[in-house]
Amino acid sequence: MSSETHPVPPAVPAAVVYGTPSPELVEAGADAVQTSPLVPGSTALEDLAPQSLERAVIAAPPGTLERRYVEALALRALKPGGELVVLAPKDRGGARMKGELTGFGCEVEETGRRHQRICRVLRPAVPEGLDAAITAGGPQRLDRIELWTQPGVFSWDRPDPGTELLIRNLPVLAGAGADLGCGLGQIARAVLASPAVTELTLVDIDRRAIDAAKRNLTDPRARLVWGDGRGTPELSGLDFVVMNPPFHEAGVESRGLGIAFITRAAAILRKGGVLWLVANRHLPYEESLTRLFSRVTPVRDAGGFKVYEARR
Ligand SMILES: C[S@@+](CC[C@H](N)C(=O)[O-])C[C@H]1O[C@@H](n2cnc3c(N)ncnc32)[C@H](O)[C@@H]1O
Repeated sequence: MSSETHPVPPAVPAAVVYGTPSPELVEAGADAVQTSPLVPGSTALEDLAPQSLERAVIAAPPGTLERRYVEALALRALKPGGELVVLAPKDRGGARMKGELTGFGCEVEETGRRHQRICRVLRPAVPEGLDAAITAGGPQRLDRIELWTQPGVFSWDRPDPGTELLIRNLPVLAGAGADLGCGLGQIARAVLASPAVTELTLVDIDRRAIDAAKRNLTDPRARLVWGDGRGTPELSGLDFVVMNPPFHEAGVESRGLGIAFITRAAAILRKGGVLWLVANRHLPYEESLTRLFSRVTPVRDAGGFKVYEARR
């Protein structure tokens, strides 16, 4: 299995940022190194040396386990006395941050602006409970779903019903293909059950998903790429594409993202190649499918999801 996931991190940074905090609320600083797993090529917070950072600014994710994990990693990486600023919308985890940081042994100065909570702390000499939070939010194998996974990844602790519907309706595929937005790799696992599949490129913008998928797929035909599936990696002449395309960007519904995935699938398939797609039934993908593909077959409509076969 090849991987193109972890570029070498830069020399030890003094300051980091996680995500894209509004500069009107807090300045991350021009030299701050990006550490979000959703930004391909970024440095992993996990890789930072303990007690090495002067400052960290975190646009905190909404999930509790994921947010506490990021807070704990940032505190581990900060020097004693280093500054941590964490901000999030009040109704998307912001209201819980002060309690979480207090629980890590920090004295918290909390302010509010534009529906966001902003917490500032100076890293205590001996923070409390970091290891437990890092374990709870870190990579883990869940026996219940029989997968390696991590809080924050799409549908990280339960199978997505759309994904399951697609897997139940997939034919036995053959040749070279791609899984755009592969997540933990469940669809890919079903595809690779066919010995006629010669290679499968999996792409996801979430490094944690790619890292988990690497552990879930130990098949030499799988190539895993951390990148934006709308353009990465270069692919052409494929026999098939499978996908359960994303329709949220930065937590907001984005139909354009799903349509961009369909457009990309059409561009990388050979003439006669086939796209297998599942989507929430309310999403308006038919127009793009019929415009870009020569034959579109709605294969299944169940449980709020639709499965399509679209032939180039
Ligand atoms: C609906 S989930 C499907 C995940 C997996 N295929 C499944 O069926 O469980 C969409 C996936 O697309 C990924 N994603 C979102 N935007 C992306 C982008 N621009 N490029 C590549 N992957 C992206 C998300 O991280 C997520 O894993």
